[in-house]
Amino acid sequence: MAEPDRHAIETGAQLVLRVAKAASTHLDLGDVLESLVAGLRPQVRFDAVAVVILDGDYVRMHSAHIEGMPRNPGESMFSLLSRRAEELKLDPPETKRPLSQSHISTMTGSHLPYVCSDTDVQTKFGAEKYRRHGIRSFISLPLLKHGTLIGSVDFMSMEKREFSEGEVQLLQEVSEIVSIAVSNALAFEEIKALKEQLQLENHILQDEIVQRSIYEEIVGSSTSLQKVLAAIEKVSATDTTVLITGETGTGKELVAHAIHRLSPRAGRALVKVNCAALPAELIASELFGHEKGSFTGALQQRIGRFEAANGGTIFLDEIGELTSEMQIALLRVLQEKEFERVGGNKTIHTDVRVIAATNRDLEHEVEEGRFRKDLYYRLSVFPVEVPALRDRADDIPVLVDYFIARLANRMGKRILQIDKRTLESMQQYSWPGNIRELQNVIERGVILTGGEVFRLEPGTLRTSRAEKSTSTPGQQPGEKKAEIEAVLKETRGRISGPDGAAAKIGVAASTLESRIRALKINKHQFRGDR
Ligand SMILES: Nc1ncnc2c1ncn2[C@@H]1O[C@H](COP(=O)(O)OP(=O)(O)OP(=O)(O)O)[C@@H](O)[C@H]1O
Ligand SMILES: [Mg+2]
Repeated sequence: MAEPDRHAIETGAQLVLRVAKAASTHLDLGDVLESLVAGLRPQVRFDAVAVVILDGDYVRMHSAHIEGMPRNPGESMFSLLSRRAEELKLDPPETKRPLSQSHISTMTGSHLPYVCSDTDVQTKFGAEKYRRHGIRSFISLPLLKHGTLIGSVDFMSMEKREFSEGEVQLLQEVSEIVSIAVSNALAFEEIKALKEQLQLENHILQDEIVQRSIYEEIVGSSTSLQKVLAAIEKVSATDTTVLITGETGTGKELVAHAIHRLSPRAGRALVKVNCAALPAELIASELFGHEKGSFTGALQQRIGRFEAANGGTIFLDEIGELTSEMQIALLRVLQEKEFERVGGNKTIHTDVRVIAATNRDLEHEVEEGRFRKDLYYRLSVFPVEVPALRDRADDIPVLVDYFIARLANRMGKRILQIDKRTLESMQQYSWPGNIRELQNVIERGVILTGGEVFRLEPGTLRTSRAEKSTSTPGQQPGEKKAEIEAVLKETRGRISGPDGAAAKIGVAASTLESRIRALKINKHQFRGDR
């Protein structure tokens, strides 16, 4: 072996030791890279070194050191590169690009170094971008973890140059140590992110627990509710996006909780976001988190609800209220399952199941141009419509029983019966506030009830405007029954369809169904009638 070579190997071994030591003392990869360049300097001079990470079909810049440009304490790699770009009057740095456009794509099979000795001549893989940053040549070495390519370490120089075999070999050895340091740094980042997520999850869970005790059961036995329950059961096993629609107070949130609880994600958090309650300027930071200093008041880095929901479910309530800007952001998360924190450059991948709810008619919102059509399609993969209470009068007796029992128990009362008229009036009322209204009415009633019989004061349930418009003023239940029977006779018991009784009366088929049940009409008796 020739003398210079032995010398190179010896100093190489020393260097490897030095880098290994740096790697074991610094958690920040930027610091490791800095000592790496310093260690190499006597033999090979570089102006910058960067670690690039493979991230699915993309590569992203992970850390960097630029000679003569020390980082401020705690400064991120992104900020460092931005400063550099500013100095050179260039656009903000590009930190992520498709793998196919990067020289790393040449390494995936071979694990061989990639050399560019002159960015003026060799412009492949966007080398002209390097040149604009003053880089004239670079050598990139694969970073491997258990034999799998995880990224590269790129040594850059402001002068064009060739690399001797000895240099390449030295850098290859060094890159093995860098591989370990990078794996450690990535593992550490993952642990840190998981820890943050756990903290936020815990925090959110504590909020949830309080609410959950109220959200125990979905009570009701009507056919339309059974359909909803069947849908919940079916969809909960999957990761499909669910869109829950229905009037206010019908139990959409209850349904969302049920889907999560029955899903394989039940062990993780269900994170709720009320899109209507958040001011437009805060919603992005709530959903996606923010980096420290990204806006006035962002004193700490904070992870968003999408990150907190990782592994679990996110419940986007009142989705119809999102601004068009947020609709775009959400569309991207749904399509690509990734996002960036506000003011951040790191792409964050999430494994989140999305459940959305709204009491708006989203299809109509799309027609009116207030809601993006593409987002609507993404959301409504599996729509669940929770029927209005007036359309399932069958559920009223059980719900009344359930709420009376619970509320009486809470108030230490003994209520054993329900006044028959009270129940009838409840079954005929249109319940614009649905179950929430029913619950409130019962709560008031229970407070006022002195004895064992639950009774509502006459006039408690005033007929709503909607109900008035579909029935003749002053119509008595008896007359209503006669009218429906007459129409049913005409349609031979047919309720739905253009020739059905519902269309003739001018109400939804489900509404008529529930009225028929409430009025105890036997619809089957009209079938054979000619
Ligand atoms: N089937 C049901 N059984 C028992 N309680 C129910 C049922 N449906 C709804 N509730 C109760 O009614 C109240 C309203 O339900 P929820 O908040 O889920 O409605 P929502 O559809 O989300 O309403 P909004 O559109 O106003 O947000 C809650 O207290 C809920 O527990
Ligand atoms: Mg709700």
